[in-house]
Amino acid sequence: MSKVIVTDHPLIQHKLTLMRKVTTGSKDFRELLTEISMLMGYEVTRNLPLEETEIETPIVKTKSKVIAGKKLGIVPILRAGLGMVEGFVTLVPSARVGHVGLYRDPETLKPVEYYCKLPQDIEEREMIIVDPMLATGGSAIAAIDVLKEKGAKNIKLVNLVAAPEGIAEVQKYHNDVDIYVASIDEKLNDHGYIVPGLGDAGDRIFGTK
Ligand code: PRP
Ligand code: URA
Repeated sequence: MSKVIVTDHPLIQHKLTLMRKVTTGSKDFRELLTEISMLMGYEVTRNLPLEETEIETPIVKTKSKVIAGKKLGIVPILRAGLGMVEGFVTLVPSARVGHVGLYRDPETLKPVEYYCKLPQDIEEREMIIVDPMLATGGSAIAAIDVLKEKGAKNIKLVNLVAAPEGIAEVQKYHNDVDIYVASIDEKLNDHGYIVPGLGDAGDRIFGTK
């Protein structure tokens, strides 16, 4: 069974509270999301493999550690996932960024795919899917399906706020994918929104309705 890691550092909890407030505008919402993404990224990348390399300090030649293997792949689920990219690439500037475009049909709540562009050699990369919201789980499951179809073998899912229903659904279909969340909220409402949640993440990031 995959792991669910709740990254509940006090700074993350504080910033998430500000994001949840209905009075927080898009500028602050985006900045807070970037800050939390960096803090979550620190935990998500904790187990990256290292290798030794020879370097020369001003004093001596020595061996020191660097990240081993292929560059990480970051994959935001469009649109709202875009709000988490800056935080991750600030931490890992060499990461490759792919995009999967999905939106939830408002009637059926089922994800509809409209775009996909991924880095090469994804079978050799650790791929990190980012999306602020994990509600029914449909979008995350579809994004993981796409990555696996293209060959990805090592996938992590990072969400800001998750509903218990969405976590259970992702684990049911993809029990090899660890899920990192800042908060597991109470439930979904009848319209598929997370309660208490923070509303429509994409609209709040981009100032749309
Ligand atoms: C939101 C969110 C997730 C999805 C979560 O996107 O960013 O992708 O809903 O819901 P689910 O777990 O029930 O699939 P939305 O479809 O609103 O599209 P947007 O990012 O373009 O606003
Ligand atoms: N998508 C959002 O943006 N918010 C929710 O609460 C559920 C899905």
